[in-house]
Amino acid sequence: MASTRIRIGMVGGGPGAGIAKAHRMGMRLDNRYDLVAGAFSRSLKKSHQGAAELKIDPARVYEDYAQMAEKESTREEGIEAVVIVTPNDSHYPVASAFLEAGIHVICDKPMTGDLDEAERLHALAEARGLVFALTHNYSAYAMVREAAHLVREGALGELRIAMVEHASGWACAKVEDDASNKQAAWRLDPAQSGTTSLISDLGTHAHQLLRFVSGQEVTEVSAELSTCVPGRRVFDDAQIQVRLENGARGSLWVSMAATGHEHGLRFRLFGDKASLEWCQMDPHYLTLKYPDGRRETRVQGHDSQSDDQARLTRIGLGHPEGFIESFANLYSDIADVIERYRDTSQAACQARPLPNSRDGLLGVRFVKAVDASHNTQGQWVTIAL
Ligand SMILES: NC(=O)c1ccc[n+]([C@@H]2O[C@H](COP(=O)([O-])OP(=O)(O)OC[C@H]3O[C@@H](n4cnc5c(N)ncnc54)[C@H](O)[C@@H]3O)[C@@H](O)[C@H]2O)c1
Repeated sequence: MASTRIRIGMVGGGPGAGIAKAHRMGMRLDNRYDLVAGAFSRSLKKSHQGAAELKIDPARVYEDYAQMAEKESTREEGIEAVVIVTPNDSHYPVASAFLEAGIHVICDKPMTGDLDEAERLHALAEARGLVFALTHNYSAYAMVREAAHLVREGALGELRIAMVEHASGWACAKVEDDASNKQAAWRLDPAQSGTTSLISDLGTHAHQLLRFVSGQEVTEVSAELSTCVPGRRVFDDAQIQVRLENGARGSLWVSMAATGHEHGLRFRLFGDKASLEWCQMDPHYLTLKYPDGRRETRVQGHDSQSDDQARLTRIGLGHPEGFIESFANLYSDIADVIERYRDTSQAACQARPLPNSRDGLLGVRFVKAVDASHNTQGQWVTIAL
């Protein structure tokens, strides 16, 4: 009997690649995907090396993504979905090729490097009615879902202030001078990723997380970008003021030069009744603070929290879960939507809170607004919704 697992292919993620490992672990955890095809590298030899490690049939290793989209869309039992884990500047051509071929797309963030490409990709995804999921995995942590639930329930009252930090120290030294650092090579090259690659890379996560948890759109930004590491050719620190659609104010600190910070992702939201805080390095706990001095710590795995928190808690109280599980949670939600598509031929993305092509487009508009504000000495720039 044929497997009912979702047949999936991968573009990027060859030997030495970064985030593809988390995608593969995430998709394996609930056993709902079979990774059966790939164009894992621009080099066919390396692509075959990667495929051999993953026990993938060499006949389904392709010279490039275009050949893969064409062959897989016409073969019996071809892939139903593709995951794109290449550098940002290739997301548009790769994603478009698979959508045009009728294949669902799971694309890592940012959706594209270029705004015009983001607009066109969003339009294509909508026109095709296929699943387009962007892997903003942080909004798939169980306690981030709990935070979003509490905000929707009114636990904070009227949201007044939102502070988000994605201030990492991964590039507080001149890592781009090390030729073997594959991840630094494209991120810190302005010719490939632009001078605002920091905002595309980490800023889009902070922006999506703020929108997801608060339920508010970011309508305006005022930004100052700077370069802390001498000789670096891209910005490595950003101080961004934001205005939200309900009138709340806030700030995003996005950095790759935050010395000593490992990943540095956290948010704090302040309403008129309470405030709420979550930190990605300690993801099981959500702290609420009240005006009368009371503090309440919600712990992942406890009863009487939201359905989503319970659904996404895998083992239970006291058994730490984190980054890999967030990918697994996201892949499981995507599988729910793709399986529904098999039955109804409609990508009912609203069935699960998947970051989609609209989120991707708003993320790229945010990057461009930050750049425009910086270039006008921090003037407020409106983000079209
Ligand atoms: N969701 C997250 O938390 C998260 C974390 C890290 C990176 N990312 C995103 O994932 C993507 C990849 O980042 P990374 O750090 O893993 O990069 P990387 O440089 O480590 O890996 C990129 C891989 O893509 C391959 N590649 C490049 N162009 C290709 C092409 N045209 N066809 C096939 N393969 C090609 C490279 O050989 C390499 O194997 C980026 O868009 C990045 O923003 C997301």
